[in-house]
Amino acid sequence: MKRSHIFLMSSMLVSLPSPAFSAEPVWKDTSRPAAERAKALVQAMTPAEKLQLVVSHYAVDNGPGKSSVPKGAVGGAGYVPGIDRLGIPAQQITDAGLGITNPNNVRPGDGATALPSGQILSGTFEPDLAYQAGQVLGREAFHRGFNVLLGGGGAVLVRDPRNGRNFEYLGEDSLLAGNIAAAQIQGVQSQHVIATAKQFAFGAIETNRMKVDMRIGEKEGRESDLLAFEIAVKQGNPGAIMCAYNKVNGDYSCENSYLLQLPKRNWGYRGYVLTDWGATHSTVKSANAGLDQESGASFDQKIYFGKDLKEAIAKGEVSKGRLDNMVYRIVYSLIDVGAYDHPAYKSDQAENVAADEAISQKIAENGIVLLKNHHNILPLSSQIKSIAIIGGKADQGVLSGGGSSQVTARGGNIVDHTRMQQWPGPVSYFPSSPMKAIQALVPNAKVNFAAGNDIQQAVDLAKHSDVAIVFATKWSAEGFDSANLQLSAEQNQLIEAVAKTGKPVVVVLETGNPVEMPWLHDVDGVLAAWYPGTSGGPAIANILFGQVNPSGRLTTTWPKALSQVPYPYIEGAGKIVNADVLAVKQYSSDNQAVSSVNLNEDGANVGYRWYEQKRLTPLYPFGYGLSYTTFKYKKLILEKDFDKDRHTMIANVTVENTGNRDGADVIQIYGKIPGETTSRLLGFRKVYLKAGETQTVPVTLFSVSLAHYVPVKHSWEIISGNYEISARSDSLSHDALKTNIHLDQIDVQD
Ligand code: BGC
Repeated sequence: MKRSHIFLMSSMLVSLPSPAFSAEPVWKDTSRPAAERAKALVQAMTPAEKLQLVVSHYAVDNGPGKSSVPKGAVGGAGYVPGIDRLGIPAQQITDAGLGITNPNNVRPGDGATALPSGQILSGTFEPDLAYQAGQVLGREAFHRGFNVLLGGGGAVLVRDPRNGRNFEYLGEDSLLAGNIAAAQIQGVQSQHVIATAKQFAFGAIETNRMKVDMRIGEKEGRESDLLAFEIAVKQGNPGAIMCAYNKVNGDYSCENSYLLQLPKRNWGYRGYVLTDWGATHSTVKSANAGLDQESGASFDQKIYFGKDLKEAIAKGEVSKGRLDNMVYRIVYSLIDVGAYDHPAYKSDQAENVAADEAISQKIAENGIVLLKNHHNILPLSSQIKSIAIIGGKADQGVLSGGGSSQVTARGGNIVDHTRMQQWPGPVSYFPSSPMKAIQALVPNAKVNFAAGNDIQQAVDLAKHSDVAIVFATKWSAEGFDSANLQLSAEQNQLIEAVAKTGKPVVVVLETGNPVEMPWLHDVDGVLAAWYPGTSGGPAIANILFGQVNPSGRLTTTWPKALSQVPYPYIEGAGKIVNADVLAVKQYSSDNQAVSSVNLNEDGANVGYRWYEQKRLTPLYPFGYGLSYTTFKYKKLILEKDFDKDRHTMIANVTVENTGNRDGADVIQIYGKIPGETTSRLLGFRKVYLKAGETQTVPVTLFSVSLAHYVPVKHSWEIISGNYEISARSDSLSHDALKTNIHLDQIDVQD
């Protein structure tokens, strides 16, 4: 009896699984929180395995003695071997925010979708489109076997219109950039791919970026670039943050404890911090400041997080707990986004290219900005008989920005062999021809092309056409700033000469930044198409012919001239860093130009706020963009829902489409904090209205943008007083509706 009882007990133990006897380790149990699983994984790791996870290796073949693709790597910006016995997948790391890149053709012939540049994405003012952009990035990364994307969350604020990387960023406003980045991060991570918020922080210029020291006060920093990151991190929850090349207040970003601790201590950030490629400068200082992973270690002077880290731990200079925490954060992110449970692998299924390209095109169509439309020259009539297309290789494609974000289009890019071929080049165009797309829209029209290098030929073509569309381009790339805001002299002369024919002239700009337009008054229309991505051709054509009513807005103020910007002179701007280094990115010593930048010049008053503070009138303000219809703001009513924990304010704006075309408007709500001299964007919403339609649209205002940062309290605060709130169609619009509201003092949680 007793024996059988015992038998029964033991058989019950076998048949009724309990956690203690479960065959499945904690980290495999998908019902448990990521934190618990990650902690168990770290406990199960050997010291060598832990060290293996904190360094990534460049995975691009650059020839003997340079770099090669490690065994097991898909081939891209980075690779960290996995730990099979624990089910930890290799980290297969790729660039980046505008599409999946293929540096040095490491994956032979592998093209991908290029999204439009950051100005366009932010210029849509539509977080939902940013989410879809993120899905494209995540989907195409996963399809190729990548599980870490070095992008999806570019939140550096545009402070200078010469910055070579502005085409990767999301404009000059923290609220807009933060919200767009957050939505994009979520889109990427919905595909089980880690997104990276980058570059943390203050990369306002590229010149001497490996050494330049960005100096900024705490309040100014928290209310500007760091606010964009705070929103991106809190709302987007990225798996990774990439620290930047530049120094911030004396310390390199990647060993700057103020910077690296801020997200972890103050924003509830649970992911890891990885470095930019070549941005690690130390072992002990970086590890103790909060760096979690050294990237592309061959770019650094030596491998800091390899044997040196092991020794530092043995000597007690870095605690074992710190290494555990680095590893914990990495595996936490892998689990949290689903990369652990759904490992990426190279798929042999066909991609849904059409769907991804349709999203790229939709973003371009919603974010390209119509700057000028004299006498409603646009949209062009489909009855038009003859069109002169001039310049910009518009017969072949659209320009792309250069550097690590350079995507290779499916079928390959069109390379301009007359220009720089080395990193950050080659100067490349995506094979999406605006001219072909135009011809497809007006099959009966004569559409002819003049390359633009022979001005007389272009003028003759324009004279024999009903309209001339001139494409003007300016290439921007990572690694250098432009020396000025000018198009090439040849392009300006070309546009001026074509304008003199007296024919209607529309200029389409494909640039990475605003440019001066000495011919502005002589042309009829100007479209800022930025770098519109792999479906840029049809997007431009659809806007020119009114298949799409433009609704993009400027997210960077367009200055009249450089004399208006906070840093009119950048020593060394225009010099291309390491242009002599073929194929391998090498970042050792740049030029000896600018060594520090005092960002307190504009401080928190970035972009349009700088112009307001200095009473400068730009050429076109932040938020500006024309439509083929007109909108009128009729009523603004504020609703306040403030209590101890909740500080929500809604601006209800009644807006009417007063024109005769359907179209979309971007309602922008600005406010002035008592005692401050400049307004800020408090909320925005894009609304689609049929011709003649009126709607009352609720626009949520973000409490953090009503607050200011108080360094001594280490927190945000809404101060008591009268707030002037206005609804505008751009940051300077004269048709603003205004109202005032009184708010009591309130602390907003950091
Ligand atoms: C860029 C990063 C990029 C990395 C890897 C660096 O040059 O600054 O944005 O992710 O290279 O290619």
